[in-house]
Amino acid sequence: MLRAARVFIGQIMGAPRAVGAVLPSSRALGEAMVEPIDFTKAKVIVEFGAGTGALTHAIVPHLTPAHRYLGIELNQAFVEHLRREFPKLTFVAASVEDLDRILAEHGIESIDAIVCGLPWASLPLGVQERAFGHVGRFLVKGGLFITFAYLQGLPLPTARALRQRLGAMFSEVSRTRIVWGNVPPAFAYVCRK
Ligand SMILES: C[S@@+](CC[C@H](N)C(=O)[O-])C[C@H]1O[C@@H](n2cnc3c(N)ncnc32)[C@H](O)[C@@H]1O
Repeated sequence: MLRAARVFIGQIMGAPRAVGAVLPSSRALGEAMVEPIDFTKAKVIVEFGAGTGALTHAIVPHLTPAHRYLGIELNQAFVEHLRREFPKLTFVAASVEDLDRILAEHGIESIDAIVCGLPWASLPLGVQERAFGHVGRFLVKGGLFITFAYLQGLPLPTARALRQRLGAMFSEVSRTRIVWGNVPPAFAYVCRK
Protein backbone atom coordinates (compact mmCIF):
# COMPACT_ATOMS: atom_id res chain seq x y z
CA MET A 1 0.00 0.00 0.00
CA LEU A 2 2.73 2.45 0.99
CA ARG A 3 4.75 1.61 -2.10
CA ALA A 4 1.64 2.16 -4.25
CA ALA A 5 1.02 5.55 -2.62
CA ARG A 6 4.67 6.55 -3.19
CA VAL A 7 4.52 5.57 -6.89
CA PHE A 8 1.16 7.33 -7.27
CA ILE A 9 2.24 10.60 -5.66
CA GLY A 10 5.48 10.55 -7.66
CA GLN A 11 3.50 10.41 -10.92
CA ILE A 12 1.05 13.16 -9.88
CA MET A 13 3.98 15.59 -9.88
CA GLY A 14 4.68 14.84 -13.55
CA ALA A 15 1.13 14.50 -14.93
CA PRO A 16 -1.51 15.83 -12.51
CA ARG A 17 -4.34 16.06 -15.08
CA ALA A 18 -3.77 12.58 -16.50
CA VAL A 19 -3.59 11.00 -13.04
CA GLY A 20 -6.56 13.07 -11.87
CA ALA A 21 -6.49 12.13 -8.17
CA VAL A 22 -4.54 13.03 -5.06
CA LEU A 23 -4.28 9.46 -3.75
CA PRO A 24 -5.10 5.94 -4.95
CA SER A 25 -8.72 4.89 -4.31
CA SER A 26 -9.50 3.22 -1.00
CA ARG A 27 -10.12 -0.49 -0.56
CA ALA A 28 -13.72 0.32 0.43
CA LEU A 29 -14.36 2.17 -2.84
CA GLY A 30 -12.88 -0.75 -4.79
CA GLU A 31 -15.15 -3.19 -2.95
CA ALA A 32 -18.23 -1.01 -3.52
CA MET A 33 -17.43 -0.89 -7.25
CA VAL A 34 -16.88 -4.60 -7.65
CA GLU A 35 -19.85 -5.71 -5.55
CA PRO A 36 -22.49 -5.31 -8.34
CA ILE A 37 -20.57 -7.63 -10.69
CA ASP A 38 -21.85 -11.22 -10.84
CA PHE A 39 -18.55 -12.98 -11.43
CA THR A 40 -20.33 -16.28 -12.05
CA LYS A 41 -21.63 -14.77 -15.30
CA ALA A 42 -19.14 -11.99 -16.08
CA LYS A 43 -16.02 -13.74 -17.34
CA VAL A 44 -14.21 -11.02 -19.28
CA ILE A 45 -13.30 -8.11 -17.02
CA VAL A 46 -11.45 -5.03 -18.29
CA GLU A 47 -10.13 -2.28 -16.04
CA PHE A 48 -9.63 1.24 -17.39
CA GLY A 49 -6.99 3.45 -15.71
CA ALA A 50 -5.73 0.82 -13.27
CA GLY A 51 -3.26 3.25 -11.65
CA THR A 52 -1.38 1.47 -8.86
CA GLY A 53 -4.01 -1.25 -8.56
CA ALA A 54 -6.38 0.05 -5.87
CA LEU A 55 -9.45 -1.28 -7.74
CA THR A 56 -7.53 -4.29 -9.08
CA HIS A 57 -7.06 -5.47 -5.47
CA ALA A 58 -10.85 -5.62 -5.15
CA ILE A 59 -11.25 -7.54 -8.43
CA VAL A 60 -8.56 -10.17 -7.87
CA PRO A 61 -10.31 -12.26 -5.15
CA HIS A 62 -13.19 -12.89 -7.60
CA LEU A 63 -11.05 -14.12 -10.48
CA THR A 64 -10.88 -17.84 -11.30
CA PRO A 65 -9.07 -19.61 -14.15
CA ALA A 66 -12.32 -19.21 -16.13
CA HIS A 67 -11.99 -15.41 -16.05
CA ARG A 68 -10.08 -13.14 -18.35
CA TYR A 69 -8.76 -9.87 -16.87
CA LEU A 70 -7.11 -7.06 -18.84
CA GLY A 71 -5.90 -3.83 -17.23
CA ILE A 72 -5.28 -0.76 -19.37
CA GLU A 73 -3.17 2.05 -17.98
CA LEU A 74 -1.58 4.99 -19.78
CA ASN A 75 1.25 5.65 -17.33
CA GLN A 76 4.28 3.40 -17.87
CA ALA A 77 5.53 3.72 -14.27
CA PHE A 78 2.12 2.58 -13.01
CA VAL A 79 2.13 -0.36 -15.42
CA GLU A 80 5.54 -1.47 -14.15
CA HIS A 81 4.20 -1.28 -10.58
CA LEU A 82 1.06 -3.22 -11.56
CA ARG A 83 3.07 -5.99 -13.24
CA ARG A 84 5.20 -6.39 -10.09
CA GLU A 85 2.17 -6.32 -7.80
CA PHE A 86 -0.05 -8.67 -9.87
CA PRO A 87 2.33 -10.93 -11.83
CA LYS A 88 -0.49 -13.25 -12.97
CA LEU A 89 -2.58 -10.47 -14.54
CA THR A 90 -2.20 -8.81 -17.93
CA PHE A 91 -1.63 -5.05 -18.13
CA VAL A 92 -1.24 -2.98 -21.26
CA ALA A 93 0.56 0.37 -21.27
CA ALA A 94 -1.79 2.27 -23.58
CA SER A 95 -4.73 4.63 -23.78
CA VAL A 96 -8.29 3.32 -23.63
CA GLU A 97 -8.75 5.29 -26.85
CA ASP A 98 -7.07 2.31 -28.51
CA LEU A 99 -9.32 -0.31 -26.93
CA ASP A 100 -10.27 -1.82 -30.31
CA ARG A 101 -6.62 -2.51 -31.18
CA ILE A 102 -5.78 -3.69 -27.64
CA LEU A 103 -8.68 -6.16 -27.55
CA ALA A 104 -7.82 -7.48 -31.02
CA GLU A 105 -4.20 -8.01 -29.92
CA HIS A 106 -5.42 -10.02 -26.93
CA GLY A 107 -8.03 -12.03 -28.82
CA ILE A 108 -10.95 -10.51 -26.88
CA GLU A 109 -14.17 -9.95 -28.84
CA SER A 110 -16.45 -8.64 -26.11
CA ILE A 111 -16.36 -7.51 -22.48
CA ASP A 112 -18.74 -8.51 -19.68
CA ALA A 113 -17.77 -5.82 -17.15
CA ILE A 114 -15.62 -2.70 -17.16
CA VAL A 115 -14.27 -1.30 -13.90
CA CYS A 116 -13.22 2.23 -14.69
CA GLY A 117 -10.85 4.48 -12.75
CA LEU A 118 -10.43 7.14 -15.44
CA PRO A 119 -10.36 10.79 -14.35
CA TRP A 120 -13.33 11.89 -16.49
CA ALA A 121 -13.20 15.51 -15.33
CA SER A 122 -9.72 16.03 -16.71
CA LEU A 123 -9.84 13.75 -19.77
CA PRO A 124 -9.89 15.60 -23.10
CA LEU A 125 -13.30 15.39 -24.82
CA GLY A 126 -11.89 13.52 -27.82
CA VAL A 127 -10.51 10.80 -25.52
CA GLN A 128 -13.89 10.53 -23.76
CA GLU A 129 -15.71 10.23 -27.10
CA ARG A 130 -13.43 7.48 -28.34
CA ALA A 131 -13.47 5.62 -25.00
CA PHE A 132 -17.28 5.67 -24.79
CA GLY A 133 -17.52 4.66 -28.46
CA HIS A 134 -15.49 1.53 -27.64
CA VAL A 135 -17.53 0.82 -24.51
CA GLY A 136 -20.72 0.96 -26.61
CA ARG A 137 -19.22 -1.38 -29.16
CA PHE A 138 -17.51 -4.01 -26.98
CA LEU A 139 -19.58 -4.22 -23.79
CA VAL A 140 -22.10 -7.08 -24.06
CA LYS A 141 -25.82 -6.35 -23.73
CA GLY A 142 -26.56 -6.53 -20.00
CA GLY A 143 -22.86 -5.89 -19.25
CA LEU A 144 -21.77 -3.44 -16.53
CA PHE A 145 -19.71 -0.27 -16.80
CA ILE A 146 -18.76 0.97 -13.34
CA THR A 147 -17.00 4.29 -12.90
CA PHE A 148 -16.35 6.37 -9.80
CA ALA A 149 -16.97 10.05 -9.14
CA TYR A 150 -15.81 12.34 -6.37
CA LEU A 151 -18.59 13.87 -4.31
CA GLN A 152 -16.99 17.31 -4.30
CA GLY A 153 -17.00 17.40 -8.12
CA LEU A 154 -20.73 16.71 -8.53
CA PRO A 155 -21.82 20.33 -9.14
CA LEU A 156 -19.21 20.84 -11.89
CA PRO A 157 -20.30 20.98 -15.56
CA THR A 158 -17.95 18.07 -16.37
CA ALA A 159 -19.78 15.89 -13.81
CA ARG A 160 -23.17 16.91 -15.23
CA ALA A 161 -21.96 16.07 -18.73
CA LEU A 162 -20.81 12.62 -17.54
CA ARG A 163 -24.19 11.93 -15.87
CA GLN A 164 -26.02 12.94 -19.05
CA ARG A 165 -23.81 10.76 -21.18
CA LEU A 166 -24.25 7.73 -18.93
CA GLY A 167 -28.02 8.26 -18.82
CA ALA A 168 -28.21 8.47 -22.61
CA MET A 169 -25.97 5.51 -23.24
CA PHE A 170 -27.08 2.86 -20.74
CA SER A 171 -30.43 1.25 -20.03
CA GLU A 172 -29.96 1.54 -16.24
CA VAL A 173 -27.73 3.80 -14.15
CA SER A 174 -27.61 3.51 -10.37
CA ARG A 175 -25.16 4.61 -7.69
CA THR A 176 -23.21 2.74 -5.06
CA ARG A 177 -23.16 4.01 -1.49
CA ILE A 178 -20.93 6.99 -0.79
CA VAL A 179 -17.55 5.90 0.54
CA TRP A 180 -16.85 8.67 3.04
CA GLY A 181 -13.47 7.22 3.99
CA ASN A 182 -12.15 7.60 0.45
CA VAL A 183 -9.94 10.66 -0.12
CA PRO A 184 -11.89 12.56 -1.31
CA PRO A 185 -15.28 10.91 -0.58
CA ALA A 186 -16.59 9.12 -3.65
CA PHE A 187 -19.25 6.80 -5.02
CA ALA A 188 -19.59 4.96 -8.31
CA TYR A 189 -22.09 4.90 -11.15
CA VAL A 190 -23.17 1.36 -11.97
CA CYS A 191 -24.35 1.37 -15.58
CA ARG A 192 -25.99 -1.55 -17.33
CA LYS A 193 -26.00 -1.71 -21.12
C1 LIG B 1 -7.92 8.78 -10.82
S1 LIG B 1 -6.56 7.72 -11.24
C2 LIG B 1 -7.24 6.17 -10.66
C3 LIG B 1 -6.21 5.11 -10.46
C4 LIG B 1 -6.76 3.82 -9.80
N1 LIG B 1 -7.74 3.16 -10.62
C5 LIG B 1 -7.38 4.16 -8.47
O1 LIG B 1 -8.62 4.10 -8.39
O2 LIG B 1 -6.64 4.47 -7.53
C6 LIG B 1 -6.77 7.67 -13.02
C7 LIG B 1 -5.84 6.72 -13.76
O3 LIG B 1 -6.22 6.72 -15.14
C8 LIG B 1 -5.02 6.72 -15.93
N2 LIG B 1 -5.37 7.26 -17.26
C9 LIG B 1 -5.58 8.57 -17.59
N3 LIG B 1 -5.89 8.67 -18.88
C10 LIG B 1 -5.89 7.41 -19.39
C11 LIG B 1 -6.14 6.86 -20.67
N4 LIG B 1 -6.47 7.65 -21.71
N5 LIG B 1 -6.05 5.51 -20.83
C12 LIG B 1 -5.72 4.71 -19.79
N6 LIG B 1 -5.46 5.18 -18.54
C13 LIG B 1 -5.55 6.50 -18.34
C14 LIG B 1 -4.06 7.59 -15.13
O4 LIG B 1 -2.72 7.36 -15.50
C15 LIG B 1 -4.38 7.12 -13.70
O5 LIG B 1 -3.63 6.00 -13.34
